[in-house]
Amino acid sequence: MNRQQIIEVESSLMANLYWKRGVVASKGQGAILWDVNGREYIDCTSNYGVAIVGHCHPKVVEAVKLQAEQLMSCHGGYNNEARSEFLEKINKIAPKELTRTYLSNSGTEAVEFALKLAKKKTEKTEIIAMMNAFHGKSLGALSATWKKKYKEGFGPMVPGYKHAPYGNIEKIRDTITTDTAAIITEPIQGEGGINLPPQDFLQQLRELCDEKNILLIFDEIQTGMGRTGKMFACQHTNVTPDIMCLSKGIASGLPLGATMAKEEIMSSIGIGDHSSTFGGGPIQCAAGAATIDVLINEKLPEKAASNGKYILNKMNEMGRKYKTIREARGLGLMLGVETRFEIINIMNRCQEKNVLTLEAGRNILRLLPPLVITQTQIDKVLTTLNEVFGVEESERFPH
Ligand SMILES: Cc1ncc(COP(=O)(O)O)c(C=O)c1O
Repeated sequence: MNRQQIIEVESSLMANLYWKRGVVASKGQGAILWDVNGREYIDCTSNYGVAIVGHCHPKVVEAVKLQAEQLMSCHGGYNNEARSEFLEKINKIAPKELTRTYLSNSGTEAVEFALKLAKKKTEKTEIIAMMNAFHGKSLGALSATWKKKYKEGFGPMVPGYKHAPYGNIEKIRDTITTDTAAIITEPIQGEGGINLPPQDFLQQLRELCDEKNILLIFDEIQTGMGRTGKMFACQHTNVTPDIMCLSKGIASGLPLGATMAKEEIMSSIGIGDHSSTFGGGPIQCAAGAATIDVLINEKLPEKAASNGKYILNKMNEMGRKYKTIREARGLGLMLGVETRFEIINIMNRCQEKNVLTLEAGRNILRLLPPLVITQTQIDKVLTTLNEVFGVEESERFPH
């Protein structure tokens, strides 16, 4: 099929749920994505944060190939070596109290299980989530997600969910009742706008949960696996959640979700309480184990930290130069540029110049490049942003 045929088939046969960008992706390597005609893009999206060690990392490809020849599916009712190896590796890098893991296939499922687990453990019914949070679109996770638009036409939401202002510990305290099972939050809000919390927020949340005897759930689906410069964003503080949700980069693009919890919490759930046919399949787990090896061996969280600082510095310089930019912010390679106008023009112009970007709300440009992005690629992206913001500036603020 040629480019146009591929576009036409998807637009006529696929559920119309995604904003199509006009990129027919065909091949990837590291931070580069090629379309079917060989056009080369620098992918600052990692496919929505997924290709964390870069597209088609040779070590991950090798692990997937080997496992595919060995065994492709294995229900949780059977034991399997690839799954065991993955569990040992994720256990080693996670906060040490989070010793038990449930394996699923996506972010929303990892959250769904966390929410069910919290209710089962506490025998309580209410969940407090944050304003501007994004936790997925299955009904439990969607109830915790903030954005109204995602909920329209799908009501009623699961009862017992409340939202409090992210970062405002006193308002969160006021939301707690005797029925509260858990508080769920992203350590840094991704889709909601690359929002970093006030300095002590996670610590204060931990103390509040301990005081009120409720569970603390961190959704590290976007922030985890080295994205923010540590393996998990909570490791920038000394705060360990009771339950942690992972997905996106965890298996370099294969569908895998993980919900990690403390032993005494996971033990509240038993055989048959929850399950997934595909969850923790051997190919996903082999990819996950290889991903963790690559993250460690290539020191990618450390690289994300230093490259993130470099980019943020340059974006701050642009912020001083262009009135269009309100603020640049982020941590590691989870970066955002808030502008005074809708971001769509900027994204389109970046794409015209072969740089793929994401949005995080109407006026925030989001960059989630693979952690293997090279210095040369970073400089190309920065040059492109400079040019694109320059054009935007001359149009918005003509002399
Ligand atoms: C923080 C967070 N939680 C949950 C999800 C949902 O993940 P999925 O799309 O795999 O269901 C996302 C996806 O963007 C996310 O960023």
